[in-house]
Amino acid sequence: MCGIVGYIGFRDASDVIIKGLKRLEYRGYDSAGIAILNGDVKVRKGKGKVINLENMLIESGIKGNVGIGHTRWATHGEPNDVNAHPHWDGKHNFALVHNGIIENYDALKKELTKKGHIFDGETDTEVLAHLIEEIELVGKVDFETAVQMALKQVDGTYGIAIVNKHEKDKIIVARKGSPLLLGIGEDEVFIASDASPIIEYTNKVVYLDDDEMAIISRDGYQVKTISNIELTKEVHELEMSIEQIEKGGYPHFMLKEIHEQSVTIADCMRGRLLPDQNKIVLGGIERVLDRLTNAKRLIIAACGTSWHAGLVGEYLFEYISKLPVEVEYASEFRYRDPLIGPEDVMLVISQSGETADTLAAIREARKRGALVIGICNVVGSTIARETDAGIYTHAGPEIGVASTKAFTAQVTVLSMMAILLGQRRKVLSETDAAAMIKALHEIPGKVAEIMEKKEEIDQISRLFAYAPNFLYLGRSYNFPVALEGALKLKEISYIHAEGYPAAEMKHGPIALIDEYMPVVVIAVTDHTNEKIISNIEEVRARKGRIIAITTENNHDVRNLAEYCITIPETHDVLTPLLTVIPLQILSYQIAVYRKCNVDQPRNLAKSVTVE
Ligand code: G6P
Repeated sequence: MCGIVGYIGFRDASDVIIKGLKRLEYRGYDSAGIAILNGDVKVRKGKGKVINLENMLIESGIKGNVGIGHTRWATHGEPNDVNAHPHWDGKHNFALVHNGIIENYDALKKELTKKGHIFDGETDTEVLAHLIEEIELVGKVDFETAVQMALKQVDGTYGIAIVNKHEKDKIIVARKGSPLLLGIGEDEVFIASDASPIIEYTNKVVYLDDDEMAIISRDGYQVKTISNIELTKEVHELEMSIEQIEKGGYPHFMLKEIHEQSVTIADCMRGRLLPDQNKIVLGGIERVLDRLTNAKRLIIAACGTSWHAGLVGEYLFEYISKLPVEVEYASEFRYRDPLIGPEDVMLVISQSGETADTLAAIREARKRGALVIGICNVVGSTIARETDAGIYTHAGPEIGVASTKAFTAQVTVLSMMAILLGQRRKVLSETDAAAMIKALHEIPGKVAEIMEKKEEIDQISRLFAYAPNFLYLGRSYNFPVALEGALKLKEISYIHAEGYPAAEMKHGPIALIDEYMPVVVIAVTDHTNEKIISNIEEVRARKGRIIAITTENNHDVRNLAEYCITIPETHDVLTPLLTVIPLQILSYQIAVYRKCNVDQPRNLAKSVTVE
């Protein structure tokens, strides 16, 4: 959360920064600001989205080739003009942008206040700026040393960028816990929280690691630790393309990403799923495959939609690979003294690869000797780099805050892993493996078929767009899909929605059902079919409005439901890859009817880099 962009070179810095901040708005959009170094440091900032900042800049006419910018997801201090970044030191010598949380800011602020510092706002970031100023002044050290000394005094996380009017043509950046990378061009260097702002200029990037800083000038960059030890960093080449991060004619990124799924699922399986040989090859975990195969149990840790994918994974690994699984909220795992050790394998799932809670869970598990495997979408992300081995989902950049194509790619990876482990653990017959591999291979085509139902789903969306509550029910593999469907609706339409295992409905939610309650039931033709039909009857008896996601040939469900969205048949274990698609479309269209900001829902951020 919070996005940082910086530029030093020969271009108009505000142009590069504004464009970049727009790409990073998924990380937060409470306020935006910019500092341009051109003799002096000129700051413009304010509440609201980057477009407001852009208008401010047009009016001000500020120009320069060096600058930093920020788009904020508020943690400390309300999202207003004063709390917007950049923040000044007391004398307005330098301006600083920050992503993360300075946890001991209150104690530091009290000390600095005693020393005469006056603060404009309530942010933890402003405290860091004043701390640097104080150290520089009292310690009579150069600015870079003051930054290093200040960073050693702060607890918490930061990705920072600073421009100082006394340090011409220089940007100082540092990182601990919040992502930051450098884009290396010819006579220019870019700074960003992820690669999307820089990809149109260069594909050469340097990822900063924790406790590292970089001193950036027009001629290049120097990376060192905050303890001043110089480092030589690897320059990575990105494979991302500019088209991948543009809307390509769709009104919203979310719709584009929903549509992309037949391709992204295929991309995720390419070279890995080999139907001709009845084989799955997952190069990223080859090295640790023996340990994974012999694991006594698997602990899956993730947050949000990735946690829902993890729940699907639990069903898959237990059924297909006969491997016991526990699925943990990453945020809970770390704080309950978890029983995990060298015998265990942890599997973390993260689209962004930057989620702070997931990262903390990884560190805890590794500290206790467990092997940690990652499923990540963003190549080179912190989680991808901190895990022992991993599998990329290859879904391409996901920009819409509500996750869609990342979820189906994660479930695709989990399905492949489960089949591979089933084979290696000799608990899955070759015939069953062949049936699953064939079915998986056919999934992209079936996803494309579901996309053709968009009009049908649109009609249902229109009817229920103003319902105050929704209930989502599913069983077995599709219970996590019910949770995911409800989450999608909450996130982007602000409708209260709950996902439940269908049978659990009797233990509470049934009290909510009346003629106004839409109940989305995922009722595919699997071993739970008869039971879920009984659950549908229970809802009908209370006049609930049944919207069923079912298969063409499930006539019982089709006869009972008021509305039906049908999906093609597939292997039971793979149904989540299909059932989730109509739910994504339903939530998208309801949000559009309700005139909600689909790609940037209120209060949310795509990448949650604070705990
Ligand atoms: C945020 C996003 C969700 C995402 C979750 C976990 O809440 O809005 O879409 O599922 O973080 O993110 P990750 O990047 O770790 O999958």
